[in-house]
Amino acid sequence: MRDSRVHPQRRRVLLGSAGAAAASWLGLPALGAPTQDDQLDVHIELHAVPDEVSIRPGKRTRVWRYRGKLLRGDASALEASAGGYLGPVIRVRRGQRVRIDLINGLPESTIVHWHGLHVSEAMDGHPRFAIGPGRRYRYAFTVNNRAGSYWFHPHPHGRTGKQVYAGLAGLFIVSDEEEDALDLPRGAQDLPLVIQDRNFGADNQFDYPGAERREGAQRSGGMMGGSMGGAMARMTGVLGDAILVNGSVDAQVDVERSAYRLRLLNASNMRTYKLAWSDRSPLTVIGTDGGLLGAAVERDYVMLAPAERIDLWVDFGRWEANTELALQSLSFESGMGMGSMMQGSTALADGAPFTVLQVWVGAGARTAATAPGRLSVLPPAQPRLAVNFDRPKVFDLTMGMMRWGINGNSFEMLEATPLETVQLDTQEIWEFRNEGRSGMMGMAMAHSMHVHGLQFRILGRFGDAYESIKDGLVDEGWKDTVLVMPGERMRILVRFEDHAGLFLYHCHMLEHEDAGLMRNYRVEA
Ligand code: C2O
Ligand code: CU
Repeated sequence: MRDSRVHPQRRRVLLGSAGAAAASWLGLPALGAPTQDDQLDVHIELHAVPDEVSIRPGKRTRVWRYRGKLLRGDASALEASAGGYLGPVIRVRRGQRVRIDLINGLPESTIVHWHGLHVSEAMDGHPRFAIGPGRRYRYAFTVNNRAGSYWFHPHPHGRTGKQVYAGLAGLFIVSDEEEDALDLPRGAQDLPLVIQDRNFGADNQFDYPGAERREGAQRSGGMMGGSMGGAMARMTGVLGDAILVNGSVDAQVDVERSAYRLRLLNASNMRTYKLAWSDRSPLTVIGTDGGLLGAAVERDYVMLAPAERIDLWVDFGRWEANTELALQSLSFESGMGMGSMMQGSTALADGAPFTVLQVWVGAGARTAATAPGRLSVLPPAQPRLAVNFDRPKVFDLTMGMMRWGINGNSFEMLEATPLETVQLDTQEIWEFRNEGRSGMMGMAMAHSMHVHGLQFRILGRFGDAYESIKDGLVDEGWKDTVLVMPGERMRILVRFEDHAGLFLYHCHMLEHEDAGLMRNYRVEA
C-alpha cells in the first residue's frame, strides 16, 4: 500500500485513453457543419482558446490551449488530454485524408505548424499565414509520413515562444502498416510523455518574460520593451524551474509489470534533457523524430533537445513488484558559457539534474515481453546522391546586434537567399555550424536545429565533442530536429520532394527562433 501522506500532492499523469474528445467537448459552439466531403477520413475543428486549469494547489493557472472537436472520422482520431492544458492527441493513419480547421479564439494572431509532417507550403503553418482573432484557417492534407510521434504548435512571427509557453502544443501520432505488423505495446501501454518546464509566479500563473507586450511590439528588435532582464531572457531562452509531464507538476505514473512504449516529446521552449532511469538501467530506443529505427539501440541515457522525440521500449517487468523508479534528467555541460549567467530568473540551470517523472511499478505478476528486434526498413543515407556532395552548404548560426541569425541574416518573412534556394527532387548536404564560442560577449549556446516539411538523415558531427552528452545522442533514423552544440558542425542530408514553395528552418529553442534564428528556404519546381 502506498502512503498518501507521504505524497500529499501526488498527481498522476493520465494513462491511456482519456476518452474521445467529442464526448468531453466543453462549452464551445460548433462552428463547422458536419463534413460533406466523402473523400475525407478525418475532420477536426481545432480551437485555440484561453482557459484556466488546476496545475498546482491553490489558484488555477491561466493557459492558452487547443481544444478539438471531431466532425468526421473514427472516435480514436481525437483523444482529449484529460489533465493539464495540452492539446488533444490527434491519431491518424498514413494515407488518410485529413481536414483540420484552426479557429483562433485567442486575443492575438496565431497559426499551427504540424511539426515533422511532409505537407505543402500552405499547410505548413508559416507565419505569413497567421490568422487574427476570430478567424479560421483550413488545413487539408493527406498524411504521408511514416508511423511516428509528430506534434503541432503555434508559429506566429515573434510570438511562438510566448504561445507555446502559454500551453499551446499537442501530439500528432501517425500509425501505418509497417508498424501494425510489429508486436509493439498498444493502448494503455503506449504512453505519450510530453516534457516541459515552466516558471510559476506567486499566484500560480505562468511567468513568461514580456508576455504582456502587445502584438507587433517586438518587431522593432530584441531589446525593445520590457525589462533588460526580460529582453535578455527573450534572447538567451526561457528556462523554468518546475518540470511538467503531460501538463502536471510532480508527475507520477503507475505501470504494470509489462512492456510499454514511451513516446517522449520535449515541448519545452529552451531546455534540453539528459534522460536516464534512476537505477541507471539502459534505455531501449526504438524511434526518433521521423518514426521507428531499423532496429532498437541501447543507451545509458538519451539527450532530448527542444522539439525532438524519442520512442522508448521498456519492459517494466524487469523491475520487482512495487518498485519506485524515476525518469531523471542528469547533469551535463550545457555549453552555455556566459549565457548561463544571463539566465537570472531560474533556479534550475540548463544541464542541472532533477527528476522528470516518478514511476510506480505495480504489484501484479510479470507479463512476458519480447524485446523488439527488427523494426522497420531504414535505407542507408546516401550522401553521394546529394547535388552538392563535394561542397556542403554551410549555415553559420550567428549572433549580432542582439539578434540571432543564420549566416548573419535574421528572419525576414518572405526572404530566401540563393544559398537558401534549392531544386525540387534533389538532395543536398547542409552543414549547421555553431561556432558560438566566438560569438558576441563570448556567448556560446547550443541550438536545436529544425527543418520544416521533411525528414533528414544525420551524416556526422564534427568539432568539439561533449563528454557528458555524446553517448546519449541518437543520430540514427529519420530526424527533423537536431542538437548542435557550441563548437560543433552538424552535417545532414536533406531531400526536397513533392512540394515547391517557401519553408522554414530554424532553431527550436523558441526564444532564439523568435529573436531571428530562423530563415526560409525556397524549393523551386
Ligand atoms: Cu516545431 Cu518551425 O517548428
Ligand atoms: Cu538556438
